[in-house]
Amino acid sequence: MTVHAQIAPGLATPKLRLEALSHEFRSRNSAPVQAISNISLDVRPGSFVSLIGQSGCGKSTLFNILAGLLTPSSGRVLLDGNDITGRAGLVSYMLQKDLLLPWRTVLDNVIYGLEIQGMDRREARDVAEPLMDRYGLGKFKKHYPSSLSGGMRQRAALLRTLLCNNDVILLDEPFAALDAQTRFRMQEWLLTLWQDFGRTVLFVTHDVDEAVFLSDEICVLSPRPGRIADRFDVPLARPRNREVVTSPDFVSIKQRCLDLLFATEAAPATEGTAA
Ligand SMILES: Nc1ncnc2c1ncn2[C@@H]1O[C@H](COP(=O)(O)OP(=O)(O)OP(=O)(O)O)[C@@H](O)[C@H]1O
Ligand SMILES: [Mg+2]
Repeated sequence: MTVHAQIAPGLATPKLRLEALSHEFRSRNSAPVQAISNISLDVRPGSFVSLIGQSGCGKSTLFNILAGLLTPSSGRVLLDGNDITGRAGLVSYMLQKDLLLPWRTVLDNVIYGLEIQGMDRREARDVAEPLMDRYGLGKFKKHYPSSLSGGMRQRAALLRTLLCNNDVILLDEPFAALDAQTRFRMQEWLLTLWQDFGRTVLFVTHDVDEAVFLSDEICVLSPRPGRIADRFDVPLARPRNREVVTSPDFVSIKQRCLDLLFATEAAPATEGTAA
């Protein structure tokens, strides 16, 4: 596959453009590690795109680059056509660990991003409170994070991420630590918020069912150095509910993902060749 073939056709200005991103970690005491190689991708405004690939293939490295926390060895990140490579704060990012501040109430955690963006605390609370009521966190406003279940903590962290006024949200395995039932409720909840807020989401998961259930598009990365082995649309109707997982379309997309993951594992891409 050429780099060009990885860019979705017919897009005027993608919300986010990943342009030939590569990154090599270098340190004085160990050999360089090529984490990702030549990743190009156009992300449509308002779409939900999942990245899957085996552990260590560079998914978090890629997210760190998109969030501006890491400057890539080569390549560019464009947001609405503007080069944002190495600039933090323009894309929202939520890590697997929720990083709620234990000394703040849940409400004050939810508004933390707004405060950082310069909003007055009282005004931020006025914005957040009705949203917490609406999205199932109303009861917990005055609680501290330590008294919340894992699912509720992730809801708070997600709402905080969504409240930042950034169009693009990066979610790195947000539900990995949750039990299966909570996880499924969280997936439904996330789809509701995504539909309500109209944000563009990039989502990393190891769970193929989760990727298919949530996404408009799935990108499968090769083992390290991660590159795009394949990407395809998920043409399942929305809104989606649990019944979709037994539909023939769902099952065949899931199988396609699994085949790709196992194929790339068996024959990892080598430097300089197409994946
Ligand atoms: N700061 C660093 N210095 C050197 N190597 C690093 C550094 N950060 C990550 N790596 C290496 O880069 C590769 C990609 O790591 P990364 O965390 O991006 O993978 P991942 O796909 O997110 O894995 P996982 O699915 O387990 O979260 C790994 O081999 C990792 O050991
Ligand atoms: Mg990771």
